[in-house]
Amino acid sequence: MEVIKTVSEMAEAAGRLKASGVTTGFVPTMGYLHEGHLSLIRLSKKDTAFTTLSIFVNPTQFGPKEDLEKYPRDTEGDLEKCRNEGVDIVFIPEPGDMYPAGYGTYVNVERITDNLCGRSRPGHFKGVATVVAKLFNIVGPDKAYFGQKDFQQTAVIRRMVRDLNMAVNVMVAPTVREPDGLAMSSRNAYLQTDERRAASTLYRALESARILHNNGEKSTDSLTVHILGMLREEPLIELEYVEVVSPDNLEPLQNTDGGAVIAAAVRIGGTRLIDNIIIS
Ligand code: PAJ
Repeated sequence: MEVIKTVSEMAEAAGRLKASGVTTGFVPTMGYLHEGHLSLIRLSKKDTAFTTLSIFVNPTQFGPKEDLEKYPRDTEGDLEKCRNEGVDIVFIPEPGDMYPAGYGTYVNVERITDNLCGRSRPGHFKGVATVVAKLFNIVGPDKAYFGQKDFQQTAVIRRMVRDLNMAVNVMVAPTVREPDGLAMSSRNAYLQTDERRAASTLYRALESARILHNNGEKSTDSLTVHILGMLREEPLIELEYVEVVSPDNLEPLQNTDGGAVIAAAVRIGGTRLIDNIIIS
């Protein structure tokens, strides 16, 4: 496994790979790797001949009051996991190399960034789209792997790739969960014991809405009210949003007839958690 720490060396390695004609996979991450990230590596390993993973805690996607400084980091542990999974290159750029002095170019994906996390985290998806576009340009993968856990992020990246004619296939993998249903996330490390227990309520509320839906409830208002009721029973949960939206354009829906995504965000203590389920 090769560890590359500069943009120029990564671009050079990518150029060599392209010339060799092998199919390449790419897993962009912010590190502190867990089974969710590893599931993306495994898909890439299955689909492609050469897998690159990046670790970069991207400053432009964090708001001024967010957790950029305290975001969990464990580079040695991450490298060990990548080695065990058979990753070929780990790319760990420095912020100053990604955003040199005078940096001034951003990718702004309109409309589908207006609601859900885009509403509560203004500027977040501009940072995500920008860094992913840069990483795609540097790494030049044939396929890039993302998790459904960040549903809006996958929609934003798909739209960016389509709108800007990027030559990369965006692959989306299912959410990997803890035994009690909590979606794995690097931020789960922030949760205290009682908060960790409360956190599984989010998934239980979403799954309970799925059962209601499977039993014939198609009204998004009723499904939302049901989820809100369950979340409000957990005193440690502070609600950010529950929305039922179209999987294609993330517009709010009246009913679930054409398929829907139920997405929610909560805070527990200082920790922000998101989750979603797709219902069809
Ligand atoms: P990060 O939160 O580290 O996640 C990296 C990738 O892992 C994302 O595609 C995310 O959706 C996926 N992932 C996280 N938890 C998952 C889970 N429980 N199951 C399946 N996949 C999961 O998302 C980011 O980093 C950044 O925004 C990034 C795309 C790297 C841009 O900076």
